Amino acid sequence: MKILVIDDDAALCRSLQIHLERDGHFVRSCHTAREGMSLHAEGGFDLTFVDLKLPDGSGLDVLKAIRDAESPGLAVMITGTQDMKATIEAVRLGAFDYIRKPLDLEAVLIAVEKAAQEQIRAKSKRRVPLEQAFHPREIVGASRSIVEVIKQVGVLSQNRIPVLIEGESGTGKELVARALHEATSPGKPFVAINCSSVVPTLLESELFGHVRGAFTGADHDKVGRLEHAGEGTVFFDEIGDMAVDLQAKLLRAIQERSFEPVGGVKCIPLRARIVAATHRDVESMVASGAFRGDLYYRLGVSTIRVPPLRERRDDIPLLTSHVLARVSQELHRCVSHVDDKAMRCLQAYDWPGNVRELENVLTRAVLLARTDTLLEDNVAASIGDRPAAYAGPEAPVKTLRDAERDHVERALRSTGWNVTQTAALLDISPTTLRKKIHDYELNAPADK
Ligand SMILES: Nc1ncnc2c1ncn2[C@@H]1O[C@H](COP(=O)(O)OP(=O)(O)OP(=O)(O)O)[C@@H](O)[C@H]1O
Ligand SMILES: [Mg+2]
Repeated sequence: MKILVIDDDAALCRSLQIHLERDGHFVRSCHTAREGMSLHAEGGFDLTFVDLKLPDGSGLDVLKAIRDAESPGLAVMITGTQDMKATIEAVRLGAFDYIRKPLDLEAVLIAVEKAAQEQIRAKSKRRVPLEQAFHPREIVGASRSIVEVIKQVGVLSQNRIPVLIEGESGTGKELVARALHEATSPGKPFVAINCSSVVPTLLESELFGHVRGAFTGADHDKVGRLEHAGEGTVFFDEIGDMAVDLQAKLLRAIQERSFEPVGGVKCIPLRARIVAATHRDVESMVASGAFRGDLYYRLGVSTIRVPPLRERRDDIPLLTSHVLARVSQELHRCVSHVDDKAMRCLQAYDWPGNVRELENVLTRAVLLARTDTLLEDNVAASIGDRPAAYAGPEAPVKTLRDAERDHVERALRSTGWNVTQTAALLDISPTTLRKKIHDYELNAPADK
């Protein structure tokens, strides 16, 4: 590799040069920010070590110049003191790794090793195309079950009968409700009301409105959400949490296509379409008397069941690409690739929180990513330490090689990736450990 070292400590530069050249690398070094930037601009460096404090400026400015260069290569920050702010800034500026002074040669060699792996990976990485026009309301997915949902939306958009959307938390029920609304009454209001977050006593007047003097504090007429929605859609989220007496009133409004505001006598026509969603098993709530059977049957004439993500794992790559495009845009990061192993990790996980959890995990992983590629480590760290769900309850017996790989990785994690300590722990030499790190393509988590 072609390596550039920018550090004002001439002795340190020389020592790094000797060691790295011994390992077959080509090394240039210089001692000021200005020299560093002009050397880097000559191009061709695969890896640049930049000291944070340089005599004529900050290493952060050098990082900025590297980031904006035509062929930036990778950069590793060298920090003298523990400086969280500068470290964060360095990561934001795209530093691939950072190491602390006094320099531990092992740490330098590991950084070089990781950079070499990153180069190989960059050549073979899978390209997740960034979506040009990002449609926030699109139901993404190509699995049979999600295509079925989309088809149902199409069919139901041809009429205005009530629809009940069932599915676990985070599966995309609201997204489906909006898609149905847009297909049925484009341009008309979509009024969402969360039955579990509005105090039951207020929900009635929220929905139907009230007239002045209807109750203490009602000092003016209030238009309810059903009226607000006009010819659009009223979306009752978490309908399972609606109080039973209010359920009766809603049912009457649906049946009679009209309702009266609280305290009023004037009959207001109900023109909006009613769409409801729930993550609960309403059928068993009906059996126990917690939900009115008549309302359930009325709403359930047309039911859309949104399947959990673990039942449509084929959709995970597509969803990942879609979510990455959005998250990158929001966080001003350009993470557009997913390493194969990271993708396998995403597809193996059970996603109890469904697409919302996938969004959260990818957001965390993007923040951890040091390059434009999400690595397995970024994903695993973001999913959290839940090996049971990750490996699945019936994980097959591992090969000895895989077991050793996992064991080495665990040992490294336990010492915070300190090679000397880990080697001692495993009772092998640091050289052997480094070889294993290389052979097994192990990567220190991004925040180490
Ligand atoms: N098929 C999909 N394509 C794209 N984005 C999706 C898809 N399904 C869900 N999402 C996204 O996942 C997040 C959760 O979706 P949504 O809020 O619709 O779920 P929900 O079922 O209503 O969840 P909850 O029960 O927790 O309210 C949203 O940001 C949504 O845009
Ligand atoms: Mg919801």
